[in-house]
Amino acid sequence: MCGIIGYTGQQDAKEVLTEGLRQLEYRGYDSAGIAFLTDDGIKTIKSVGKVECLCDKVKKESDDATTCGIGHTRWATHGGVTDTNCHPHSAGKVTLIHNGIIENYKELQKEFEAKGIHPVSQTDSEIAAMVINDCYDGDPIKAIRSATKRLEGAYAFCIMFEDHPDVIYAIRNGSPLVAAATDEGSVIASDMVALIKYSKDYFVLPEHHIARLTKDGIVVINENHVAIDPPMLHVNWDVAAAKKGGYDYFMLKEIHEQPEAIRNTITPRTKDGLPYLEDDGVPDTIFDGINRIVITGCGTAMHAGLVGKNMLEHLIRIPVSVEIASEFRYSNPILDPHTLVITISQSGETADTKAALELANKCGCKTLSIVNAKGTSIARESDYVLYTHAGPEIAVASTKAYTVQLSVLYLFAFRFALVRGCISEQEARDYMKKLHATIDDITTVLTYDTQIQSISERLKHSEDLFFIGRGLDYALSCEGSIKLKEISYIHSEAYAAGELKHGTISLITDNVPVIALATQRNVLAKTLSNVVEVRSRGAMVILITNADTQVDASLCDHMITLPKMDDAFTPFASAVVLQYIAYYAAISRGLNVDQPRNLAKSVTVE
Ligand code: AGP
Repeated sequence: MCGIIGYTGQQDAKEVLTEGLRQLEYRGYDSAGIAFLTDDGIKTIKSVGKVECLCDKVKKESDDATTCGIGHTRWATHGGVTDTNCHPHSAGKVTLIHNGIIENYKELQKEFEAKGIHPVSQTDSEIAAMVINDCYDGDPIKAIRSATKRLEGAYAFCIMFEDHPDVIYAIRNGSPLVAAATDEGSVIASDMVALIKYSKDYFVLPEHHIARLTKDGIVVINENHVAIDPPMLHVNWDVAAAKKGGYDYFMLKEIHEQPEAIRNTITPRTKDGLPYLEDDGVPDTIFDGINRIVITGCGTAMHAGLVGKNMLEHLIRIPVSVEIASEFRYSNPILDPHTLVITISQSGETADTKAALELANKCGCKTLSIVNAKGTSIARESDYVLYTHAGPEIAVASTKAYTVQLSVLYLFAFRFALVRGCISEQEARDYMKKLHATIDDITTVLTYDTQIQSISERLKHSEDLFFIGRGLDYALSCEGSIKLKEISYIHSEAYAAGELKHGTISLITDNVPVIALATQRNVLAKTLSNVVEVRSRGAMVILITNADTQVDASLCDHMITLPKMDDAFTPFASAVVLQYIAYYAAISRGLNVDQPRNLAKSVTVE
């Protein structure tokens, strides 16, 4: 999604802006631009392509000294990928950058065209600039207030006014903005990765509040035109943590960070060996009256819900459904105050998940979010939030966020079951021990990289493959499939192993790779018979199992043996195997693992 940065202070604004855009590249984009204050007014330079292309253009086109400006990386929503459609956009005295979607921009455009005023781009963002300029009579705050009353949709704006030098204004509705006043000046951005170089203390701009950034600090004004002090937050990771740390790709670094990420996430929630949520502001009363749970999210976050469902239903014996957020929000779901809706999101800004949460809130449900990025929309708009402490996840392919989501779902299930009397304290302690043990299990699986790399290289020329499994292994097959598709571009499909003979097995021919998960001992024999079925039709089978002693190795071409662990906890280990398979398959194909084509790290538009 689009990346935003704004700066006004003592430093070279062009340098601060382009460096900030480099940090925001991971959000996914197709073009970039900056606007900065010069002696002759506001100058804008923008370019299709990578931030480096923009930097080259800035060097060629500007030797201006400047200490105030805004910068943007664009992930095209309205209008093609062209220089004209790049941000920043200007109209009259107004220059702005925008993250989000203005849903009524076409009507607004018609109003301007009826007055003979035509935009030069195809973007909703330029229309927004025109509206603000239309409302502008010399008072930026008043203009922003009036204009945003006419705009419908999601936005995060950073705005400069030609006749208000060295000042940047910002306002948001739905899209993220964080800011900090520092010794070098005031800085605002889409997320902390662009800010952390300047400050580890920051605040989230409250929605519909206007921030006024000057060299001397930031004033935040609420809707009643009163200056307020937003709560300050602190990140405990440094710039190095946001770098690759010596790994070839962020994804590999983040795969290896999983033991620490899980440790950081569950240790603060373990007290006397029992699951503990009080410090998160999640009281035991959250469980009162709950007779149903809905888990919703997108992509990998939704897949984590599939695993959480299994444990929740096993322990508490109430119905748990897992819904794709983009479907759920339009499905007119049956919700009531006895339904607990759990939204899962690494970024905390995914538009569909946010909309599903808003629907749940509107229906009077209790809402709990499981979010990695602190202070984000989904976290703030839930009744309760359980943060995962995975640190920044930069790679588009989600890895450590997934396993820490599992750890929180399991810990939450243990607390729920304990409070509801479904398990004893001793049983809760046993479950917590197994949860903590996954840290060592994952550490063990991380040493399988060489073995898995050589197996994965066999997929280098594959065009289609299947993941099969039953129960939890089917849930993990779904995750393995999305991981492989999104970074290696190999088409794959996750299939419930028992379903194969109802159609899909017709696609199994010589050397078609099938990655079979067989860790659930209650259906082990059935899964292995499915393996025999596909192998007898020529499939190349990679078997992932924790039951190697019960499996005849001749059944498969490759066997990856998980550490000895309880079936219900194998997802933590098999997830790492699947992440490795996807990573090394993509590497074997020479692809950019961290920034796969067409994908963005956080999908903040529908
Ligand atoms: C996972 O590897 C993908 N990057 C994608 O499916 C992601 O999980 C999904 O977009 C949800 O993102 P969120 O967790 O930030 O809401």
